[in-house]
Amino acid sequence: MFQPDTATAARQPTRWQDYVVAQDWAHFTAQEHDVWDLLFARQVPYLGTRIVAPFLAGIPLLGLDGPGIPELGALNARLTPLSGWTLVPVAGIVPDAAFFAILAERMFPIGNFIRGADSLDYLEEPDCFHDIFGHVPMLSSPAIGRLMQAIGKLGVKAIAAGHGDTIARLYWYSVEFGLAREGGEVKILGAGLASSFGEAHVAIEADLPRPRFTLTDAARTPYRNDIFQPLYFVSDSLEGVAAELEALDLAGLKALAAPL
Ligand SMILES: [Fe+2]
Repeated sequence: MFQPDTATAARQPTRWQDYVVAQDWAHFTAQEHDVWDLLFARQVPYLGTRIVAPFLAGIPLLGLDGPGIPELGALNARLTPLSGWTLVPVAGIVPDAAFFAILAERMFPIGNFIRGADSLDYLEEPDCFHDIFGHVPMLSSPAIGRLMQAIGKLGVKAIAAGHGDTIARLYWYSVEFGLAREGGEVKILGAGLASSFGEAHVAIEADLPRPRFTLTDAARTPYRNDIFQPLYFVSDSLEGVAAELEALDLAGLKALAAPL
């Protein structure tokens, strides 16, 4: 998932198992594996050290530096012993309720398709490069693993209580488009930035507001998913934002929601 889709969630089945499909790794063509290799080869040096250290450590730990689109069974064989997370293939965007329910199970959905060679920088919906390259290295970090599961559990309750937008914003400004301080420097935290060839540098270097991440401010700041972000919240640390979100309960989330 690139962004929670609250508008359609009510019309969709919410049983998360209904969204799990086969990766069918054998269906990927040589050209599609080449797209992965091209995206990977340009993104790693492009990110350089602009990204938090657990991301960079996770790539070789998980064998993501090998050629071609990763096969999820092999990737899980490395990831699950490290962190307890399991990747599950899906066919496209998973509605919020099911998405958060999957995270609550310590599972992460991975699109079973990749963008075309003619649209390397354009995504209508998250593909396996976004989902794997952007998210999976972070799942080898225990702190991010805890954050993701906590958001999943709280997200299920939040949607049921009518606060889906609030949890979606917290997810957006941390897991997808968040920055975090590390060693005195501002680094990329979010998968939406990690996997973007255009926005990763903008997020760090452009003359844009970078307010300190607080639960209240993030929860009350709407976002758009069809433009480069006009601001980026900066968490004090990866461990700090993870602990803050882990400690949040439904009552706390309701208190964060902006007054009408
Ligand atoms: Fe994502």
